[in-house]
Amino acid sequence: MIYLDSAATTFQKPPAVEAAMVEALRTMSSPGRGGYPAALAAADAAFDCRSELAELYGLKNPEQVVFTLNATHALNIAIKTLVPPGGRAVISGYEHNAVTRPLAALGADVRIAEAPLFQPEAALESFAALVDGSVDAVICTHVSNVFGLIQPVEAVAALCRARGVPLIIDDSQAAGVLPLDLTELGAAFAAMPGHKGLYGPQGTGVLLCGEGITPHTLLEGGTGSLSIQQEMPEFLPDRLEAGTHNMPGIAGLLAGVRYVRRRGVEEICRRERQLAQMAAEELRGLPGVTVYARPDLHAQTGVLSFTAEGREVEALGQALGERDIAVRAGLHCAPLAHRSAGTLAGGTVRLSFSDFNTPEEVECLVSAVGEILS
Ligand code: ALA
Repeated sequence: MIYLDSAATTFQKPPAVEAAMVEALRTMSSPGRGGYPAALAAADAAFDCRSELAELYGLKNPEQVVFTLNATHALNIAIKTLVPPGGRAVISGYEHNAVTRPLAALGADVRIAEAPLFQPEAALESFAALVDGSVDAVICTHVSNVFGLIQPVEAVAALCRARGVPLIIDDSQAAGVLPLDLTELGAAFAAMPGHKGLYGPQGTGVLLCGEGITPHTLLEGGTGSLSIQQEMPEFLPDRLEAGTHNMPGIAGLLAGVRYVRRRGVEEICRRERQLAQMAAEELRGLPGVTVYARPDLHAQTGVLSFTAEGREVEALGQALGERDIAVRAGLHCAPLAHRSAGTLAGGTVRLSFSDFNTPEEVECLVSAVGEILS
């Protein structure tokens, strides 16, 4: 299989991830639940994983790193902490349903910082026009899951700091690919999956919490701490980690994060961009194909959308699937991003690369698309 759906989940993981998960099944019970070796092994792995992530994201304290089920879970906690029912939020025009659906469920007054595709200056102007003291939270995805478009989160963070409005960063598509320093940005939260660019297994996600925040709990239950008390502990990470931890997942995530740190996010990004650039150039040469990319691709990561005139994207995705090439076609759970880019009517075919793809795979993809279109 040629796997080009890493924006959904990375399928090829570093071998150390699988080994760590098997080792966890053999050696770990639950962290914070006992002083015997298996519980201590679990506590060590959880602490090491928090510490690696804290270092990667500029957090002073590993306890600011909270394990979640996925990025959607992390975003729900962040949004429901900051936006009350009927509250007000300003979001970018490239948000995923993981942001827009919780806001809809809250009945929030949502204002969209509209901007055409690949125009970060326009996005920033829109944010500047909408963000004021009446806003409960600003939510901005770092990278669009559909177009790989990099958003100006540093400038949005500076705006939020200046206007005293908390910021939530959806780092789902940027984690493991672009650097982010939560402390420097002064953001309230950043949410990300463990199973995409951080190369952990599915079922892992991370919520990074800014200093001094007491988040809203979505789940209440046992934490192994303050057991006599019936309210959830105020302190992190216990406040948000009710119930038994996913230790094979956390151990796998730890191995994935260590792989990313060893390789370096800049190097991973460079490789993925190079593959996306090659795909963009070659697909552009096919008749009727529109590629949504800037020529130098510096405004984007290794995520690339395209369409072909007169072809339904789902049929194209299906035909590629039949050739054992995995892509995602349609709206990618992000209708707002498609609306902003003008692709809502038909959607796009999306290619998303990981550190494990090769130029030969790009060649195969392009010749398969050429064959299907002819
Ligand atoms: N949000 C993920 C994607 O874009 C699942 O495919």
